[in-house]
Amino acid sequence: SRARPAQLLLLLLVPLLGAPRGLRVRVRLPDGQVTEESLQADSDNDSISLELRKPDGTLVSFTADFKKDVKIFRALILGELEKGQSQFQALCFVTRLHHNEIIPSEAMAKLRQKNPRAVRQAEEVRGLEQLHMDIAVNFSQGGLLSPHLHNVCAEAVDATYTRQEDVQFWLEQGVDSSVFEALPKASERAELPRCGQVVDRGKPCVCRYGLSLAWYPCMLKYCHSRDRPAPYKCGIRSCQKSYSFDFYVPQRQLCLWDEDP
Ligand SMILES: *[C@@H]1O[C@H](CO)[C@@H](O)[C@H](O)[C@H]1NC(C)=O
Ligand SMILES: *[C@@H]1O[C@H](CO)[C@@H](O)[C@H](O)[C@H]1NC(C)=O
Repeated sequence: SRARPAQLLLLLLVPLLGAPRGLRVRVRLPDGQVTEESLQADSDNDSISLELRKPDGTLVSFTADFKKDVKIFRALILGELEKGQSQFQALCFVTRLHHNEIIPSEAMAKLRQKNPRAVRQAEEVRGLEQLHMDIAVNFSQGGLLSPHLHNVCAEAVDATYTRQEDVQFWLEQGVDSSVFEALPKASERAELPRCGQVVDRGKPCVCRYGLSLAWYPCMLKYCHSRDRPAPYKCGIRSCQKSYSFDFYVPQRQLCLWDEDP
């Protein structure tokens, strides 16, 4: 069979040499609204970053660091000034990157779109992933885990979280243990209420935050041609995925969005 260029949203072309390549796409969010998303690949650093703004103003970003097997989610949540909240609150969630989660950075760097006005909807909706973030990342040591952490999580110095199971993997890869700090022990945490159930704004609780990557290239597509001996990369498959993070906060007021237990 032949490649069907008319049906491919994006084509893999010969890369231009030089600076990191960027792509802006219009995407449909899970709630039906449309927003703009930017995707950038840096093949020198073997990394991909994605950024989108939710209709409520929250800026969500995702960084995949293939060199260090690290992915970083960041949310910049706008405060409600009339309720006395600060201008924004930043959260960073750092977990292990598996290399089949998203296309390689060198392929991402070659993506171009034929129709920038098109509103894109992911071909595949991947299931919600719930993550229990039980370890804090020491920001000043974060560069030992990934060089991207200092830039991406600069606003979340006291709110950068990861998980014990990912820490175990990184320690085996030789990452220094000084990066990681235990949060209150599991036994104590088990006693902690969800923030939605806590009235006293000074009390610790377990907060939940959800975000979605509305559209990202999750797989390469291969085509066959009579003129070529082997299948060749001819496009991408797009995915959407949602994540829900549970994490400890020392004070209820750091989790004001969590109203519904
Ligand atoms: C983070 O690590 C540095 C260097 O090891 C240490 O001095 C500092 O106390 C740590 N921060 C926290 C909050 O533990
Ligand atoms: C990306 O790579 C360049 C060199 O190619 C380097 O100067 C820069 O610090 C790297 N950035 C990150 C975040 O790794």
